[in-house]
Amino acid sequence: MKKLIIINGPNLNLLGKREPNVYGSLTFTEFFDTIKEKYPEIQLEHYQSNVEGELIDKLQEVGFSYDGIILNAAAYTHTSVGIGDAVKAIETPVVEVHISNTFSREKFRHKSFISPNARGVVLGFGLQSYELALQSFI
Ligand code: DQA
Repeated sequence: MKKLIIINGPNLNLLGKREPNVYGSLTFTEFFDTIKEKYPEIQLEHYQSNVEGELIDKLQEVGFSYDGIILNAAAYTHTSVGIGDAVKAIETPVVEVHISNTFSREKFRHKSFISPNARGVVLGFGLQSYELALQSFI
């Protein structure tokens, strides 16, 4: 059984109530429950933190044993050399995900410290971006 984890960064715990015009009105738990049900052949976990170092700790913890990581580092995508270095340091492939199309938004969202070391990037498809990333591991 493939072991995958979705790692979500800052403010993604507010999905459902945070700028619903950009991020939708579904909570992450509601979405996560539906994809867990849809892909019973995958051992799928979810971790969220608003703290940069905790995201790095989690990447290091799972990054040598899991089959795949689906990472939405949220705002840290655009700022964190540390998370970028962690993605480079681990062995498990990382697919970078964004709910919104970051390239159609402010210029500061066009830069990613994750992309150079990601296996691929899925963005702009709403929460479905996570599912498309998951399918890339099947
Ligand atoms: C985001 C895009 C980021 O620019 C933003 O800071 C987020 C969410 C997305 O999923 O669209 O918090 O990663």
